[in-house]
Amino acid sequence: MGQFPITRTTTPKQKPADDALAFGKVLTDHMFLMEYNEGKGWHSPRIVPYGPLSLDPATSVLHYGQAIFDGLKAFRSEDGRIRLFRADRHAERFNRSAKIMCMPELPVDIIRQSFDALVGLEHDWVPRKPGTALYIRPTIIATDVMLGVHPAHSYLYFLILSPVGTYYKEGVKPVRILASDSHVRAVKGGTGEAKTAANYAASLAGQRDAEAAGYTQVLYLDGVQRKYLDEVGTMNIMVRIGDEVITPPLAGTILDGVTRNSALQLMRDWGLTVSERPITIDEVMQAGRDGTLREMWGTGTAAVVSPVGTLGYKGEDITINGGQTGELTQKLYDTITGIQYGRSNDPHGWTSLVPV
Ligand code: COI
Repeated sequence: MGQFPITRTTTPKQKPADDALAFGKVLTDHMFLMEYNEGKGWHSPRIVPYGPLSLDPATSVLHYGQAIFDGLKAFRSEDGRIRLFRADRHAERFNRSAKIMCMPELPVDIIRQSFDALVGLEHDWVPRKPGTALYIRPTIIATDVMLGVHPAHSYLYFLILSPVGTYYKEGVKPVRILASDSHVRAVKGGTGEAKTAANYAASLAGQRDAEAAGYTQVLYLDGVQRKYLDEVGTMNIMVRIGDEVITPPLAGTILDGVTRNSALQLMRDWGLTVSERPITIDEVMQAGRDGTLREMWGTGTAAVVSPVGTLGYKGEDITINGGQTGELTQKLYDTITGIQYGRSNDPHGWTSLVPV
């Protein structure tokens, strides 16, 4: 596709101070757009001033939620250079989500070029303060104007950027998690493995109830037996019991998290025993009671690694590692962010420099 045509904004926004950044509240000056039509394929890639989309009220995505997204970050290192973290893996996952949701895939190199082109143009928006980043949100929505329920014939790919601080207002501090016996997120054969809008809509009621009960996030159990750990909020979950680190397997109901994959790889590099296996909430609670539950954390692009200080289930609260961040949790956080910000070496070649 070569160079993308750029229409520059004539009204650039005031950039927020790095100290004032929350998650996803401020969007940059430009966005990347590209359309798909059956028979024609993907066409008309371009960068334009950021602004509202105009959609007919009968546009199918607004009714039936045929929408996918992904999320990755650009990090500024001390020397000023900008790196993306595992952009290829995010692009591949985006296409897996597309397949599950009956949407057309996009060539990975076009996705990558769109990241580089937009982040390169918006390079001044990549914040400088440690812990901050530029969040990159690629999205595809179905744009057929029709009320029939079937896969659309036309789509819009858009890419938007947002300078972000830490995802949780607590920062990297242990959070309180509630294992829910009343809400489920996904079942096998459903869409749990796709990063699709509906999964997040389905999580809202559980999240609301957990917050009302004094917790930060929901730990979802499997949708059939309500027994096995699935995911925590928008993150994958990991527990360290005795000498084993355990995380639920990729069996169709959970997202193939990029941070999950990175953490597993690092822990294997370090010679730890790491199991991707089903684990029940009863096993975790029992380990909490008998003192063998050493650490528990969530992994995700937004929060990186988020320690769990308290786990609640059926009226019982278990405190993990005295409510403090565990040593392996901290090591994972430090190592992953070290690679992301170009402070440490990158043995697996996970980062790529953005041409500016
Ligand atoms: C992530 O952990 O990166 C997420 O999926 C959060 C995002 C939906 C805001």
